[in-house]
Amino acid sequence: MADLPVISSQAVLASIDPATAVERTRHAFERYARGEWAMPAKVYLDSPPYGDFRAMPARGDGFALLKWVTSFPGNSERGLPVVRGAVMLSDAETGQELAVIECASVTSLRTGGAAAVSAQVLGREDARTVGVIGCGVNGAWAGRCLAACGYGPGVCADSRPDAAEALADELGWRAGERREAADQDVVVTVTPGDRPVIATDDLRPGQHIAALGADAHGKAEVELGALASCHLFCDDWAQASAGGELAHAVEAGAVAQDDVTQIGEVITGSSDGRASDDEVTLFDSTGLAIQDLAIAQAVYGAWRDGRVDAPTVTL
Ligand SMILES: NC(=O)c1ccc[n+]([C@@H]2O[C@H](COP(=O)([O-])OP(=O)(O)OC[C@H]3O[C@@H](n4cnc5c(N)ncnc54)[C@H](O)[C@@H]3O)[C@@H](O)[C@H]2O)c1
Repeated sequence: MADLPVISSQAVLASIDPATAVERTRHAFERYARGEWAMPAKVYLDSPPYGDFRAMPARGDGFALLKWVTSFPGNSERGLPVVRGAVMLSDAETGQELAVIECASVTSLRTGGAAAVSAQVLGREDARTVGVIGCGVNGAWAGRCLAACGYGPGVCADSRPDAAEALADELGWRAGERREAADQDVVVTVTPGDRPVIATDDLRPGQHIAALGADAHGKAEVELGALASCHLFCDDWAQASAGGELAHAVEAGAVAQDDVTQIGEVITGSSDGRASDDEVTLFDSTGLAIQDLAIAQAVYGAWRDGRVDAPTVTL
């Protein structure tokens, strides 16, 4: 049996910079849209009353992956992470285990990467300014990835002013009110999704909204009227319509599959993206195992090339 590296969060973040995370995320969306990568639906395992576990598989480019991850909302009050778990990366030809990788860091890189890819693909060409609403773990990575792609300056808004200020200081942006953040060219929402943070009268022509926070049934960040007035895109229709920002609009009968385009199809050119400079585009990100795979592949490559260290075990 070959030695199996166990790759920490610190090593993951040392092996991939935000610009690479954006590139890898785009690669995942493209490969999946071309039918070259496989991704069965994620499986939810409830763990009442604490939250749920999710098993997220994907295969592509000679690798197979399983992400085993929690969403335990009450954990923050107990001083524990909401999202925790591990990624198992295997060789798709031999089945050999290749790496065990800490999963929150992988999640953050691909979530931030998705926000930036959506802005590049769906935002106006002259879009520059950014509003981040919800500057916690994944909102911060969305800001970092957008900044790495040349977006900014931005306005950071959070119900915890210290979180907004910390991100603003790091990126050289400024902290501000939710309303100011919602008025920027590219607006990213990354809150827990327990109440809307984008109202209908917040929208202005030409904006791009990346709605990242609603990644499970019952969560929403965008008022129904606002959502229904946007040109709609998502990462994966099956996932987004069941448990993403789109789900409440689909349930209300306000949005149907024909109204929504998967971003990978815009990247490959098989579907149209933004139709005019005036429309507001909205990308519903729910987070896909293919995105995790694209990041895990790069992390494993960095370890194999000796660019990061990890302890190894023999199973
Ligand atoms: N789409 C994806 O791929 C993806 C990936 C990871 C996490 N998520 C989701 O994103 C959300 C945030 O995750 P996180 O790990 O960054 O959590 P977090 O707790 O680190 O950050 C959430 C932030 O939102 C702030 N906030 C809460 N309500 C707010 C409001 N009404 N207005 C402004 N700020 C508000 C909080 O103060 C906190 O700073 C969760 O719902 C999570 O499930 C989505």
